[in-house]
Amino acid sequence: MNSTTEKMTTDYLEALQWRYATKKFDADKRISEADLATLQQAIRLSASSYGLQPYTVLVISNTELREKLRHACWNQPQITDASHVFVFAGKKDFDQDLIDSYLNLVSTTRNLPLDSLSGYGDFMKSKLLELPRASKASWSSHQAYLAAGNLLSAAASLQIDTCPMEGFEKEAVDAILNLGEKGLTTALIVPVGYRDESDQTQFYKKVRRTPEELFLHI
Ligand SMILES: Cc1cc2nc3c(=O)[nH]c(=O)nc-3n(C[C@H](O)[C@H](O)[C@H](O)COP(=O)(O)O)c2cc1C
Repeated sequence: MNSTTEKMTTDYLEALQWRYATKKFDADKRISEADLATLQQAIRLSASSYGLQPYTVLVISNTELREKLRHACWNQPQITDASHVFVFAGKKDFDQDLIDSYLNLVSTTRNLPLDSLSGYGDFMKSKLLELPRASKASWSSHQAYLAAGNLLSAAASLQIDTCPMEGFEKEAVDAILNLGEKGLTTALIVPVGYRDESDQTQFYKKVRRTPEELFLHI
């Protein structure tokens, strides 16, 4: 490793060490528009299966909406105190339109004839469209989790705090955000902002399984 690579590695791991699932946000601090744009770009650049990005990410700042959401999120204060709340919502169902619109995007982005992509399109359709509805929803939600993971890491690299959350009533959150009519359902919620100085959780040692337990080199 040269010194630049070494520094990048150290910075990255330090950022991951620095981040924690923030329990108490400073309700007076807001993320700048530039940082918000960077976080959105990190989500946008996330990998997804076949590149299909079968989710929508709601970025919520509205105070009243967040009050309502907090009740549906086990009354967790991060929902109202963070600067913004990102809701990762996966597609509950999809048909060939999802794949066709992606192929169109590939064609225009890379300046390729649509015809040249038809084999790939057929392959994706054969793999995805026959899945049962519940599996489609679960597949979409898996893709959304990857994007949420990127948000956590990107935020940490900017010293912005986050808290990934599964502690919510899915049906209630979906109803408050009218996700049903958009064909979406909530996968994961991530409040984003700045830690409150008084949040003791920031001083807790990280609890992680040992590398020997976690990795199997074969
Ligand atoms: C999918 C997922 C759901 C979680 N749900 C909640 C939650 O609802 N509320 C909360 O305070 N923390 C939640 N957490 C945070 C975890 O408890 C935390 O990430 C874990 O204990 C590791 O600690 P660290 O992230 O502070 O390093 C969740 C984390 C993940 C990845």
